Amino acid sequence: MAVQQLKPGIYSIGANDWDRRLFDELIPLPDGTSYNSYLIQSSEKTAVIDSVDPPKSREWLANLKKLEVTHVDYIISNHAEQDHSGAIPDLLALYPEAKVVTNEKCKGFLEDLLLIPAERFITVQDGETISLGDQTLEFLFTPWVHWPETLCTYLKEDKILFSCDFFGSHLATSNLFVRDVPKVVEDAKRYYAEIMMPFRTAIRKNIRKIEALDIAFIAPSHGPVYDKPGVIIDAYKDWISDRVENAVVLAYVSMHGSTEAMASYLCDALIDRGIEVKLFNLTQTDLGELAMALVDAATLVLGTSTVLSGPHPAAVYAASLVNALKPKLRHAAVFGSYGWGGRSVEIIKNNISSLKVDLLEPLLIKGHPKDGDFRQLDKMADEIAARHREL
Ligand code: FEO
Repeated sequence: MAVQQLKPGIYSIGANDWDRRLFDELIPLPDGTSYNSYLIQSSEKTAVIDSVDPPKSREWLANLKKLEVTHVDYIISNHAEQDHSGAIPDLLALYPEAKVVTNEKCKGFLEDLLLIPAERFITVQDGETISLGDQTLEFLFTPWVHWPETLCTYLKEDKILFSCDFFGSHLATSNLFVRDVPKVVEDAKRYYAEIMMPFRTAIRKNIRKIEALDIAFIAPSHGPVYDKPGVIIDAYKDWISDRVENAVVLAYVSMHGSTEAMASYLCDALIDRGIEVKLFNLTQTDLGELAMALVDAATLVLGTSTVLSGPHPAAVYAASLVNALKPKLRHAAVFGSYGWGGRSVEIIKNNISSLKVDLLEPLLIKGHPKDGDFRQLDKMADEIAARHREL
């Protein structure tokens, strides 16, 4: 990433990862990502906010060189996950005077994950400040966005909140600031769905905390900088609210067409009843799209073929993922087809046991659906419609 000036003396010095297509070996990245890092050259001290993923370390350090940085006082670590912390040891080697500033919990992670020695740290408390001369850094603990140690750093005089993963988007772009608002909000929603959604309650508290600040810019560590912070704060408030939409996420896997015929029939039956349907064939879908659909939907319906005596592994995988992401679903249902028996419904129910949902009557049929089975699917659609009328 080229060095870009955010304000006089404040630079973006991180790295774009245009080609990355998978994060945590789990999350699809259709638009790549960036690992943002910021340099603050104040009247007395020089601070760097977060680092980059280790493969981008050389590029990051070259940016410091381009800016002729010969001395770093502080490297602020807002989050210990390696895409932001992994290159800190390289900076500490290059600038032996530099200290890692973070909270006690993050220090523990950095010692364990990166073997940074204890004497290289300065630990801070929630609300503590460090003067850089003309400018002041204030540290705000914002736990569980999305690890227990996460914090934000607020540059008081310039009203910049360095929020790390919080409010981030997986988007590689040459724009320092958000220019295409709908695109960035969509990528931020995908990011929220995949990373932040399990922590809605913690996010609520953290948003209240940061809203007490006067913020001109939110500078996250993935994606562009928000020069209109209300855009992303309002989007987050909507995503974490208890409001659900009159929408069904209908995800299925079908081996020989029987479960697909059920999914297709149920999809039309729901549409006939005025319900929005987001249909996903689990063998083809980008699971990030599925996660995004779950941010607002009221109901999940999962359809599965039977493999040996249980659900298809693709359905198990999706159910486990939904269970981990903890969307604000109200209702769920399971349907599918089998050849000679099986425990698919029971296994899928167990796989989504963390969801606070009312489970509808499941429908597991033998072979291809017949007239009576379609009537049962109509009944399922009626039941979902009735429940959605009460939303
Ligand atoms: Fe972008 Fe939690 O790391």
